[in-house]
Amino acid sequence: MNQTINAITVIGAGTMGRGIAYASCLAGYATKLYDVEDHILNKAIENIAGSFRKAVDKGILTPAGVDQAQALLQTTTDLDNAAQAADFVIEAIPEKIDLKIALFRQLDQIAPRHAIFATNTSSLSITEMAGATQRAPQVIGMHFFNPAPVMKLIEIIRGLETSEETIAATQEVAQLMQKETVVINESPGFITTRINAMIGNEAFYMLQEGVATAPEIDKALKLGLNHPMGPFELVDLVGLDVRLNILNFLHQTLGEKFRPCPLMVKYVKAGRLGRKVGKGVYNYS
Ligand code: CAA
Ligand code: NAD
Repeated sequence: MNQTINAITVIGAGTMGRGIAYASCLAGYATKLYDVEDHILNKAIENIAGSFRKAVDKGILTPAGVDQAQALLQTTTDLDNAAQAADFVIEAIPEKIDLKIALFRQLDQIAPRHAIFATNTSSLSITEMAGATQRAPQVIGMHFFNPAPVMKLIEIIRGLETSEETIAATQEVAQLMQKETVVINESPGFITTRINAMIGNEAFYMLQEGVATAPEIDKALKLGLNHPMGPFELVDLVGLDVRLNILNFLHQTLGEKFRPCPLMVKYVKAGRLGRKVGKGVYNYS
């Protein structure tokens, strides 16, 4: 179904949804950002304003360009209002297949027939989400990276029935968002998550075994391997809950080598989910 994309709806205004909404309105799309509660949307708007300020400070955007982009962004807690005029929906709710399937089923009833559904899942099956809709050829993986305003790549993932038209439309959206893309066939964890989760999990095993402290392991990977952030700094940015959900799925699908480190499980049980709550491996208060 070849249709011009003017309106993008982002579902979920957490760590990723807010950054995706930023990229969407900056690309010139009329953008609706949906979440279940107003206070989350207010926090998201504050965070997006911060990204715009940073872009102006760095000379990437002009104040006029920011005004233009911000005028294209609306928030809502009403799913009908969010999706009924969408040409392209990007889902960024928690990494739980049951939640995503329920949402896709609901969206299928609300969104226009031509609308494409993209999921920002880090690891899960696009085909399984597509199966909850009557539009499987229009369902695709669109995996952004954190922080979404800055990171250059989007992994585009082809589900079993994703059409070439849907891939082309998604590439066009990514291009207008000024991102590079790789297109891959569905497989648990795609390219990046499969590797990144492995490194992050191994770092936790090393911490658990007492090989070194977290700052030492981070320093070694930054200065010895030129990673921009150490694995513990990164997991605090990503969210330990997000990483644990990913590892549980990779363990289930790809086997023993992805068994989540018990120490990480303990951190999640303690509520140490990372920067978003002020405490993860490190303390941010
Ligand atoms: N809009 C556009 N560009 C912006 C911007 C904005 N609002 N704010 C900053 N930038 C640009 C800057 O101009 C700068 O560009 P140059 O390098 O060309 O100068 C670049 O973004 C970096 O910005 P900063 O200087 O502010 O930040 P930094 O140098 O301290 O780097 C970082 C911060 C980009 C987060 C870096 O530490 C990094 O790359 N860390 C690793 C992040 C990572 O691995 N993310 C992936 C996580 S895994 C994931 O997301 C997938 C999953 O499913 C869990
Ligand atoms: P998050 O927990 O920060 O945000 C999720 C948001 O979804 C919350 O604001 C929550 O209120 C909202 N939500 C929950 N159920 C909802 C529903 N039914 N409808 C609408 N909103 C709902 O999570 P996140 O880190 O932004 O991750 C979102 C998705 O993006 C996950 O699939 C994750 O794997 C993926 N992802 C995360 C990162 C990362 O670094 N955090 C990077 C790339 C991809």
